Amino acid sequence: MAEECVPVIRYEELPEGPVVVLLDQTRLPAEEAELVCTDVPALVDAICSLAVRGAPVLGIAGGYGVALAAARGFDVADAAEQLAHARPTAVNLAYGARRVEAAYREALGAGRGEAHAAAQALAEARALHREDAEASDRMAEHGSALLAELVPGGGMRVLTHCNTGRLVSGGSGTALAVLKAVHRAGELRRLWVGETRPLLQGARLTAYEAAEEGMAYSVLADGAAGSLFAAGEVDAVVVGADRIAADGSVANKVGTYSLAVLAGHHGVPFVVVAPVTTIDLDTASGSEIEVEQRAVYEVTEGPWARPLGPGAGPGGGPGGGPGLGPALAPVGAHAYNPAFDVTPSALVTAVVTDEGVASPVTPEGIAELCSTSRMR
Ligand code: MRU
Repeated sequence: MAEECVPVIRYEELPEGPVVVLLDQTRLPAEEAELVCTDVPALVDAICSLAVRGAPVLGIAGGYGVALAAARGFDVADAAEQLAHARPTAVNLAYGARRVEAAYREALGAGRGEAHAAAQALAEARALHREDAEASDRMAEHGSALLAELVPGGGMRVLTHCNTGRLVSGGSGTALAVLKAVHRAGELRRLWVGETRPLLQGARLTAYEAAEEGMAYSVLADGAAGSLFAAGEVDAVVVGADRIAADGSVANKVGTYSLAVLAGHHGVPFVVVAPVTTIDLDTASGSEIEVEQRAVYEVTEGPWARPLGPGAGPGGGPGGGPGLGPALAPVGAHAYNPAFDVTPSALVTAVVTDEGVASPVTPEGIAELCSTSRMR
């Protein structure tokens, strides 16, 4: 069970200096290997290669990265900048890095020296980590109560996409935390897990967590979702989010929008679960959300190809590279590889957060969630 698992992220003070230790998600489910980051470039690499991934834990990683820079005497402003921009879509990453940078600056401004400021930075990063765990519990509570209303009678069959459980969080996660609560209440008949091409976060990571929890789950190819809806096998879709704009549009793992359209067509509730730290009121609408474009070889060679470095963006490697991964397409094939897509609020039945639920999803409802927020 989750309590005995290898921690997803931790900050450790070793005799040779502080480090950020990650459970390397690129190697799951085959092995639970840890990745030790002793400096900011190593952590940025881990973020770009998706060794650590998922919106809330990216915020925690950003925070610990800034604390690490402060403790090791690196340039804190530069560290915060590098971390905040390592990936563009999940707003939590910049939130975590900037929040800890602000704590460091404030302490430095108080004139008690670098060591005190570094300690304050670490305390802030640890607070962020703790708050995220608490947020998971509140999302699970609000979300499971909502699902009981939306799908009366229990025994529900829920489709999810990507990975949104303990691997993305300081606690039990977002959407998957809700579904774990439903499962523990004996109300989850089947978890449908979309494989989530090209990096297979569903098949590799959600299935791994579902197995840990003893949930009844089935992995399906992304292209099989339509026929699953048509067969009447889906009672609700529950997914996470990387950024929610002020108008309620939701950026999440590519493929989410297609599921929202299918859910709308089949009259199935489509629920988004995210902490309020994923809401970005500075982004007015979905069209303003920057969607990360990733390297061609992820599509043409799959997740087994070499990990991305920070410089490798769209087209960062030609399709069918020289023996780096299995050829899934001819050598030189072009590919379209956005990491996320944006679902308009009209297709979203409810946004569930740690501060409550917005349903229907309106700009006013989204603003209201933020106004009651404990978020700083
Ligand atoms: O590219 P990833 O694996 O970082 O994408 C993650 C997702 O899209 C998750 O669904 C999202 O971060 C929500 S998890 C709370």
